[in-house]
Amino acid sequence: MDKGTREKAIEKIRKEILALKKSPLYKYRTKNKYIPVVGDGSLFAKMFFIGEAPGRKEAESGRPFQGSSGKLLNELLASAGIKREDVYITNIVNDRPPENRDPTPAEKKLYSPFLDRQIKIIQPKVIATLGRHSMEYIMTYFGLEDKLEPISTAHGKSFKIKSSYGEVDVVALYHPAVAIYNRNQKDTLITDFKIINKLVK
Ligand code: URA
Repeated sequence: MDKGTREKAIEKIRKEILALKKSPLYKYRTKNKYIPVVGDGSLFAKMFFIGEAPGRKEAESGRPFQGSSGKLLNELLASAGIKREDVYITNIVNDRPPENRDPTPAEKKLYSPFLDRQIKIIQPKVIATLGRHSMEYIMTYFGLEDKLEPISTAHGKSFKIKSSYGEVDVVALYHPAVAIYNRNQKDTLITDFKIINKLVK
C-alpha cells in the first residue's frame, strides 16, 4: 500500500469516527467540542503502540499521548533511542471517556474495529500494548488468550504471531501513566522499552 492509499484509509476511519453517533461518548465529545483521536505518527512505522483512550489534552488536540502520559511516553521512547515520529501511536477507544474513567467493554467493542483497520493499514512488525486494556484486547485478537496474565507479570514478555500480512511480535508494557509518581515502575518501563527496539532489528 503506498502513502496516498494509507492516508486515505486513515482519513476514512477519522470520518467514520466523527460520525459515530451511536457511541455512548459521542454527546460528551460534541458538547465539549472535543476531537476524535485516531492515530499519530509514521504510516510506515515498524512499531505500533496502543494506549487506552484519550484524555482531555488529547481530545482537545485530536492527537494521542499529549498530556502527562504523553510526556512520559516521549521520555521512554527517547531512552530506548526511538524517535516518536518513526512510530505509530493510537488507542483502543478514540473518544475521551468522561473524567478519564476506564473505557467500558461496550466502548472497547465499538471502537476496536478502527484499531484493527489501523493495524492492517500500517502493517507493523512490533505491536506494543500500553496497559491492561490494550494488552487484553490484542492478545485475544491474535488468539493468545491462553497466555493472558496480569500485567504485573506479563509486562516485558513478547509473543510471535502470524497476522494477515506476516509475522508480528506482540509486547505487553505497563501504561506510561503508572510511572508518573512511581520511580520503580518507570525503571521497569525503561527496561521493557529496550526490548521493543531489539525486536525490530
Ligand atoms: N492515555 C492513553 O491511553 N492514551 C492517550 O492518548 C493519552 C493518555
